Amino acid sequence: MVPSYHVITLFPEMFSALSQSGVTGRAIDRQLCRLRFWDPRDFTLDSYRTVDDRPFGGGPGMVMRVEPLDLALTAAKTVLEREGVARPRLVHLTPQGRRLDQAMVEGLALEPALVLLAGRYEGIDERLFARHPLEELSIGDYVLSGGELPAMVVLDAVIRQLPGALGHADSAREDSFAQGLLDCPHYTRPEVYLGLEVPVVLKSGDHAAIARWRLCQSLARTRRRRPDLLRGRALSGLERSLLRKLEDEFGDGPQDPSQEGTRSGGD
Ligand code: ADE
Repeated sequence: MVPSYHVITLFPEMFSALSQSGVTGRAIDRQLCRLRFWDPRDFTLDSYRTVDDRPFGGGPGMVMRVEPLDLALTAAKTVLEREGVARPRLVHLTPQGRRLDQAMVEGLALEPALVLLAGRYEGIDERLFARHPLEELSIGDYVLSGGELPAMVVLDAVIRQLPGALGHADSAREDSFAQGLLDCPHYTRPEVYLGLEVPVVLKSGDHAAIARWRLCQSLARTRRRRPDLLRGRALSGLERSLLRKLEDEFGDGPQDPSQEGTRSGGD
């Protein structure tokens, strides 16, 4: 059984960006996963199909009504239960949630099913959370107009992890963060563009030297742009020695980014 991703959203059409292009579109076409939408408006019981209302206690904005969301979530869970997934992970996208990172993405990619709730308006009637155990997940400390873009971010990051989703078997493993480091620089033809040359080592055919150069570049970039990642990571002997060389070369002060890791990387 391929993983099933269910999205509760008032705007399923937004997800065509995900389902119709690139890596994610291809993965869905090739049935590496299933994507299904539940529109709370289809679960309203009034003739106006009302999904929101004014907040009790007053205040600006509207609140999403509990009943259509409850019924939509229950419908998604019922379908999944019939397919053999008794307790799918339920995720509510909200800026109040735990901040998404690559480790969480890799965990989500192992799930047989996900139900993502994309909210709109000022918020959701709190009683929904008393009825369903939703994890809260944020894609960063800023506020978007709804949970659809965050849900797409989660799905894109998850789907690219599915076996067979990426053309080259190593691509996901070599992504930034996959090894706890930022990605190294990449080059393709032409060899010289307006006087800018491709590093010589990449044209040498020496695979060990190329791997070492790439690791050195990743370490240098991570050290300069995201030193917090290095502090939280165990280092191999080679990584430690390359980092020591970078420290000797650049010290702790400001560096010239164009020079990062070039001498010790041997390019
Ligand atoms: N909904 C609105 N903003 C969001 C964010 N930053 N992360 C997740 N869901 C959101």
